[in-house]
Amino acid sequence: MCGIVGYIGNQDAKEILLKGLEKLEYRGYDSAGIAVRDNSQVHVFKAKGRIADLRAVVDASVSANTGIGHTRWATHGVPSHDNAHPHQSTAGRFTLVHNGVIENYSILKREYLEGTAFVSETDTEVIVQLIEKFANEGMETEEAFRQTLKLLKGSYALALLDEQNDETIFVAKNKSPLLVGTGSDFNVVASDAMAMLQVTDQYVELMDKEMVIVTKNDVTIKTLDGTVVERSPYKAELDASDIEKGTYPHYMLKEIDEQPLVIRKIIQKYQDEQGSLQIDQNILDAVTSSDRVYIIACGTSYHAGLVGKQLLEQMAKIPVEVHVASEFGYNMPLLPEKPLFIFISQSGETADSRAVLVAVKELGHKALTITNVQGSTLSREADYTLLLHAGPEIAVASTKAYTAQIAVLSILAHVAAASKGEAESMNLVKELGIVANAMEVLCDSKEEMDYIAREYLSFTRNAFFIGRGIDYYVGLEGALKLKEISYIQAEGFAGGELKHGTIALIEEGTPVVAIATQENVNLSIRGNVKEVAARGANPCIISMKGLDTDEDRFVIPAVHDLLSPLVSVVPLQLIAYYAALHRDCDVDKPRNLAKSVTVE
Ligand code: M6R
Repeated sequence: MCGIVGYIGNQDAKEILLKGLEKLEYRGYDSAGIAVRDNSQVHVFKAKGRIADLRAVVDASVSANTGIGHTRWATHGVPSHDNAHPHQSTAGRFTLVHNGVIENYSILKREYLEGTAFVSETDTEVIVQLIEKFANEGMETEEAFRQTLKLLKGSYALALLDEQNDETIFVAKNKSPLLVGTGSDFNVVASDAMAMLQVTDQYVELMDKEMVIVTKNDVTIKTLDGTVVERSPYKAELDASDIEKGTYPHYMLKEIDEQPLVIRKIIQKYQDEQGSLQIDQNILDAVTSSDRVYIIACGTSYHAGLVGKQLLEQMAKIPVEVHVASEFGYNMPLLPEKPLFIFISQSGETADSRAVLVAVKELGHKALTITNVQGSTLSREADYTLLLHAGPEIAVASTKAYTAQIAVLSILAHVAAASKGEAESMNLVKELGIVANAMEVLCDSKEEMDYIAREYLSFTRNAFFIGRGIDYYVGLEGALKLKEISYIQAEGFAGGELKHGTIALIEEGTPVVAIATQENVNLSIRGNVKEVAARGANPCIISMKGLDTDEDRFVIPAVHDLLSPLVSVVPLQLIAYYAALHRDCDVDKPRNLAKSVTVE
């Protein structure tokens, strides 16, 4: 969701910015732009659509060593050339890119900018106009910028150029992610380290309500009251090859295929020298001493949280509630004395989850974040972090992060169970090894998945995914995968619940994917399949070896029943992938979606 880049140094800024924006494409966007400063002036190029469209309008003859760039995911105003960033002040002196939402922009417009002619519908334009207003009143740019920041309510990551100062990019952040990358004779700005890995792997984290003066040779961080903050850069542990597709046609397919490797990596990362699984003692204490765990997450991470509840309750005997982040803040349940909050987030930047984290920290509760991104906002602001070690996930549709989240939750549940003296339910290292092997078998079954997708989904307008217990949760994830990349209306349902209303939607040929991996509900889910089949549905049963029957369409290898989501989700990911391909959809960048949802 919106991406920012900036460069100041000696090289061709245009190309560095455009390449950086290409690396941020995965976040989701609908227009893009750059502003570069040559010897005399700032040149702005913008386009609705893809970076390729922007490239087509950039004047190759402009030679500049400083610039800022932006990918916009529309919030205030439709995707258009005028609403695309960068935005300029009326006199053209200031040029700004912004990620986030300014909640009080109409009040600011009314109170400070009466008579100003706005060219866009964005909240962002208010910021750049305010800066110019304060500069016109005699303030130095840094002061005008600071004064403006003090008036803003909401979230922002900002990068600003001043036509009268060719040596500086002014930067600020509140709630939206932003990093400053450092190099020799140059510095950069980026929403995430991936964008500028082409030039540096050294990054300085920025905290909320900080502003930064970035020149070619210096990075000066200040608080809004002007106090200078010293902070050393860290090395981004990213390999440039991790963010390339290689020979794969899509990131999503690559990331699905990476899952066995990720599971093996997680086992290794969480093993001590003796080969036992271990979790930091402070985290264990927090989990085992809490009277109830609250898992907070969105989308796919929420679905992983539902499986996590089963793992923590069944293995460690700890009561767990799972909540959608965007609802929890407004509907907070009565909390017990010692709740522990677990935030699950691939990106670690999801604004809905972060809003809950801020609220529960204010109430004095402890929080653990399970994330793929070290140093992300949710990781920094929680008391504890467990990393997924899944490597960058670029495709908007989350796949390997989901299975990594479940694997890490299973390790947390397992070690917590041991520390509470609960009887060991399985040899988890061995069972996760079996899972990784089973995933490999499934990743080798692509032709079959392609066939199933063609048979059931390529020409349908809707589809249902049903299961019971843990299979129901996997069904929710299978439905989300299908709808987000193929635009088929897909819903996940508890097998027994369909007949209470939704079965009215079953028509001749409606695909119903049923997941059957749990012995205790095997007969009942098959009964639910019969109910829909009797009303014309086209059932596709995906079962687990040992529970399978002749009517099943696909049988996954047997794994421990509590770990079955790690395996049963793989065919659903692949079916969604092939259905999207058959329907000519943009698999990695589905319409309307953003990878990292940084607005509430
Ligand atoms: O980065 P997060 O895990 O916090 O993101 C949460 C959701 O936005 C994310 O899982 C989303 O649902 C994915 N597009 C699903 O594929």
